[in-house]
Amino acid sequence: MRMKQMRTVITGGAGGLGLATARAFLAQGAQVLLADLDAPALIEAQRQLHAPAGDLQTACCDITEPADCERLVAVAEEGLGGPIDVFVANAGRPFGGPLEQAEPTAIRAVIDTNITGTLLSAQAALASLRRSPRASLLLTGSLQSVLGRAERSVYTASKHAIAGMVKSLALEWGPLGVRVNGIAPTLVDTPFLRQAYAQAGIEVAQALTRAAQSLPLGRIPTPEDFAHAAVFLASEEARAITGHMLMVDCGASAGKF
Ligand SMILES: NC(=O)c1ccc[n+]([C@@H]2O[C@H](COP(=O)([O-])OP(=O)(O)OC[C@H]3O[C@@H](n4cnc5c(N)ncnc54)[C@H](O)[C@@H]3O)[C@@H](O)[C@H]2O)c1
Repeated sequence: MRMKQMRTVITGGAGGLGLATARAFLAQGAQVLLADLDAPALIEAQRQLHAPAGDLQTACCDITEPADCERLVAVAEEGLGGPIDVFVANAGRPFGGPLEQAEPTAIRAVIDTNITGTLLSAQAALASLRRSPRASLLLTGSLQSVLGRAERSVYTASKHAIAGMVKSLALEWGPLGVRVNGIAPTLVDTPFLRQAYAQAGIEVAQALTRAAQSLPLGRIPTPEDFAHAAVFLASEEARAITGHMLMVDCGASAGKF
């Protein structure tokens, strides 16, 4: 019960890493609101988590819209019964392929979601977070927050921005009583990853096996590995940790393997 009655909002909460994080937080006693663009996926997530209505709520929201972000925070405070303790800014979009073939609209969509949307949702959450005595903002980065990758320039640019936000907001919000940290996974098998592979015309099962073999631990992280890192960073045990990007990457960023 490390998260007992911690009011938690998770964007991109309807699938993959967000859903696994919700499950882990609920198991530790948190009250969770899942926010996502995808309304049917939110209903399915709520069905899968099967938690009491008071502990689990959902809100349909587009983080690229400032009014939606403001509404999300108001709905969360009302539904969870007080200021938000933990805000997990996790919603994101994949993008693969060489830059020379990228459509301007597709580039804008990734930047708009992964950078602008993350900033807008964090900005909206601040007034609520600073009224919590144990406030924490968690941002979902990526291995591409710290390393480059060919044919991933747009996504890499967007995830390097997350690393910048973690550091800058930790400095800006520390004095306001809000810790800010990031979690950076390498490939995790989620709908997001499968969509990225499909976009790039890559065969999924083979690519996942190759990815596992390329890592020092011989496997790729699971959504639960990500969720455990989120529980730790939001918990009282991490009260001295801010401005940190925690790699959940089975050793991918440690060096050449
Ligand atoms: N899966 C991986 O391999 C991997 C690796 C590194 C980082 N990540 C990051 O993890 C995060 C979650 O990804 P995932 O793998 O769980 O993918 P996912 O596709 O399962 O989940 C992402 C969720 O974000 C939602 N979303 C997208 N745009 C939104 C918007 N404008 N407003 C609200 N919600 C929106 C989607 O509807 C989706 O439910 C992303 O930020 C992604 O960049 C994933």
